[in-house]
Amino acid sequence: MAGAGGSADGDLEAAGLRLSVTGEVATVTLARPERRNAMTGRTWEALAHVGQTLPESVRIVIVTGEGSSFSSGIDLNMFRPGGIEGEVSLTDRIADGSADDAELDALIAHYQEGFRWLRRPDVVSVAAVRGHAIGAGFQLALSCDLRILADDAQLCMKEPALGLVPDLTGTKPLVDLVGPNRAMELCLTARTVSAAEARELRLAELVVESGQLEGAVDDLVAALLAVPREAAAATKELLQGAPGRTLEEQSAAERRAQAARLRALAAQDARG
Ligand code: CAA
Repeated sequence: MAGAGGSADGDLEAAGLRLSVTGEVATVTLARPERRNAMTGRTWEALAHVGQTLPESVRIVIVTGEGSSFSSGIDLNMFRPGGIEGEVSLTDRIADGSADDAELDALIAHYQEGFRWLRRPDVVSVAAVRGHAIGAGFQLALSCDLRILADDAQLCMKEPALGLVPDLTGTKPLVDLVGPNRAMELCLTARTVSAAEARELRLAELVVESGQLEGAVDDLVAALLAVPREAAAATKELLQGAPGRTLEEQSAAERRAQAARLRALAAQDARG
């Protein structure tokens, strides 16, 4: 097992993250359990960096949290005057009028990069969630392709209750999974969804007893690794595009993807 190495490990630790890579599997752990894995801007920058520098060997990314919670969301100190040492204080910049709309847009886009890469076709991302996944924590779980929940998981889109909107790329997967009306109900009441309800709402592929979370993730990873990576990537891309295409367009996309696969397999056979 290898960490990110040297000072990179130090940067990740300062951002409240840990990365381990074992062959084809990377595990990203939110690692500020004493703050219930609250995340800051630095955490999201570090997450983006993990995505940008992921070894080519990796095809599965597990995202999990240390301790009793997956993540309590944004570190609420980000909203307090003075913010967090060494980080941009949005509250201060807005209060003193020094952050214009373009700057705010760029900063949030920058933070969103920490979440967006988890949808890349060349990896399958799996959120392993125990305890609370609140606000940005829920959005991080929603950014993953698949979610396995411990039976004590509690999901909450808290942002509207704080006067904000969910802005870390979580609204689209939420609507895609539960539909616009249920998504509205969940967000506009900011209520907590139990693991059992999450399974009913299709917010979780699997719910297991808390003590079985790691084992369930291992089983899923083994099953995912048993499918050839190129076929998995092509299939993920095809499935991701399906909601935005007509049947006609999707059929054409299937033909194109299959032709590419057939050619690749034939070339592989020819090489022996
Ligand atoms: N930010 C900063 N500190 C946090 C935190 C957060 N989000 N969540 C927990 N902590 C701190 C607590 O203040 C506490 O610190 P002390 O030990 O110094 O008192 C410590 O972590 C442990 O927390 P609790 O004692 O509260 O632990 P708990 O297990 O009883 O409760 C919890 C856990 C339900 C997550 C509770 O801590 C909580 O409700 N936290 C706040 C959740 C929240 O509102 N998050 C923001 C959501 S919005 C968002 O994420 C997106 C956005 O962009 C706005």
